[in-house]
Amino acid sequence: MATATAPTFDKGLANTVAAETQMSFIDGGKGVLEYVGIDIDSLARNSTFEETVYLLWNLKLPTRAELDAFCTELRAEYMLPAEMDALIRQFPRSTPPMHALRTMISALSMFDREADVNTPEANRRKALRIVAKTPALIARFDRHRKGKPFVDPQPDLTIAQNFLLMLNGELPTDAMAKALDVCLILHADHGLNASTFAARVTIATLSDMYSAITTAVGTLKGPLHGGANEEVMHMLNEIGTIDKVDAYMAGKLERKELIMGFGHRVYKAYDPRATYLKTFAKQVAADTGNLNLYEMSRRIEEIMDKAVAAKGIFPNVDFYSATTYYSLGLDLDLFTCMFALSRNSGWCGHCIEQLKGNRLIRPMADYIGPHGVPYVPMAERR
Ligand code: CMC
Repeated sequence: MATATAPTFDKGLANTVAAETQMSFIDGGKGVLEYVGIDIDSLARNSTFEETVYLLWNLKLPTRAELDAFCTELRAEYMLPAEMDALIRQFPRSTPPMHALRTMISALSMFDREADVNTPEANRRKALRIVAKTPALIARFDRHRKGKPFVDPQPDLTIAQNFLLMLNGELPTDAMAKALDVCLILHADHGLNASTFAARVTIATLSDMYSAITTAVGTLKGPLHGGANEEVMHMLNEIGTIDKVDAYMAGKLERKELIMGFGHRVYKAYDPRATYLKTFAKQVAADTGNLNLYEMSRRIEEIMDKAVAAKGIFPNVDFYSATTYYSLGLDLDLFTCMFALSRNSGWCGHCIEQLKGNRLIRPMADYIGPHGVPYVPMAERR
């Protein structure tokens, strides 16, 4: 199909619609996020991560029997191939976890005989495997770098429970598992964000789902995207105590520096993922003796509200998820891995969607260099 209209340059693709999706809807002006038409706040309060993944992939809430069958399928895929365990043990212990995760997702393809089969059925099976195995990848790498023995997943536990079990070597409390589960629901899908776009670009070449998810993990890692939650925690640690917040923020705003965990390309109202998370983060922080972090965050939000809310800059999902993950005892450099653990479900769903009626995604670049430049032989160059 020929391009119908003259191409326009749209820096950052902010005004370009590059895909159709049935999974999530965002109204950035009103601060609305829905998965398959269901408000995110209501999902965070009432759903589970497993049910949310089912919703995204099947475009409907499951019946009890459908959810049970889906969980059984997922749980059958929790374990890693023994070769993956051996591979993880070879990684340098100093490897940043997002580098390890990107490599581990990519490596999983070598143990999947369907890696290059792009039928919807095979891709659904691969999506299940990727979502089910990622918790073990992250937990095993973390145990390896700390010189601890691997802990196997238990087939009767949820993804959130299992991840915390495999990471810490002990069963989490219900409150801890619930806190992680809520974060997983909130991060599962979000329109054509940068990492999802990257995944769709990769799968649209008819590459394979492992390549697409590997691309997405690499894209998520940046501090302007998924890496912001870790940066928020670095900022809170740098500030230290609540009495230092005002001076710290005054300096940052004076120097016009970015405040991590604030602002969004799409939301110019309060990020609806942050609404419930804010209340939830307070509870988790109080339960775990980290209320000081929550209070520092609240003060930062008050200052930002006065300084930049008029420009449409509010806390985003990463701001209060940082306190929540810290309160759960996660190392800072695992925060973005938590985002990936959840967003896997959105990425895989988008790959399957993209392949229905696929077209290569190939925008244009506006060439701004010279023309007609003569080739100068090496000896004559200066
Ligand atoms: N702190 C201070 N000022 C900000 C911030 C911030 N966090 N974000 C945007 N602004 C200002 C920016 O300086 C600009 O000001 P001016 O008009 O005076 O030049 C204005 O707001 C518009 O910003 P922009 O850079 O055009 O916005 P963008 O849509 O290109 O960028 C963003 C969006 C998320 C990259 C940016 O807000 C940012 O860098 N935020 C901090 C990083 C962060 O928290 N990222 C996580 C995003 S949510 C999770 C996810 O989905 O990835």
